[in-house]
Amino acid sequence: MKNLGILLSGRGSNFEAIADSVAAGRIRGAIAVVISNREEAPGIELARRRGLEARVIPSKGKPREQHDAEVVAALQEKKVDLVCLAGYMRLLSPWFVRQFPNRILNIHPSLLPAFPGLEAQKQALEYGAKVSGCTVHFVDEQLDHGAIILQKAVPVLDDDDEHSLAARILEQEHIAYTEAINIVLSGGFELMGRRLVRRATAKA
Ligand code: GRF
Repeated sequence: MKNLGILLSGRGSNFEAIADSVAAGRIRGAIAVVISNREEAPGIELARRRGLEARVIPSKGKPREQHDAEVVAALQEKKVDLVCLAGYMRLLSPWFVRQFPNRILNIHPSLLPAFPGLEAQKQALEYGAKVSGCTVHFVDEQLDHGAIILQKAVPVLDDDDEHSLAARILEQEHIAYTEAINIVLSGGFELMGRRLVRRATAKA
């Protein structure tokens, strides 16, 4: 059984989708700790209500290296195997990334490499994209950049605004994160450069 560590800063709907999958046995792992860098993140309250270990490690006013060291220490203390960023609004330092090589995942609400960074759904809409979606990827030292684990596409409709598009994407995010975690936990893949290729026996 592998230990998951969830990092979040806000609403926590991706965390909840992961926690539901764990509770239903769709993910063969356990959530060892949920960490927020913001005291007021609704996600941390949701974690507490589920009886999970939930910690706030405030980032405000702290040098990145110091905050990252505190978060890594908490993850190591809880023997976390896989770190899942779920709306964690912080760029990880290169040192943090090196502590968990190919064991940190992030979810982003666009089909990367299109529209990295903030307000990806608004960016897609304003650009005039006809298809958008979400990407689960390994975290490397650049923002929204590491090797792609999986993507799910949704249409952009003529009457969409950023909220309706975000809601359509979010529905897919909740499905995608569980699938991606299972791919990584299964170990049934190879990374060929940036390309994640699943071994034939590992394909569901
Ligand atoms: C999601 O859209 C995710 O893709 C992005 O931040 C948002 C977090 O939402 N990285 P939630 O906190 O999981 O509800």
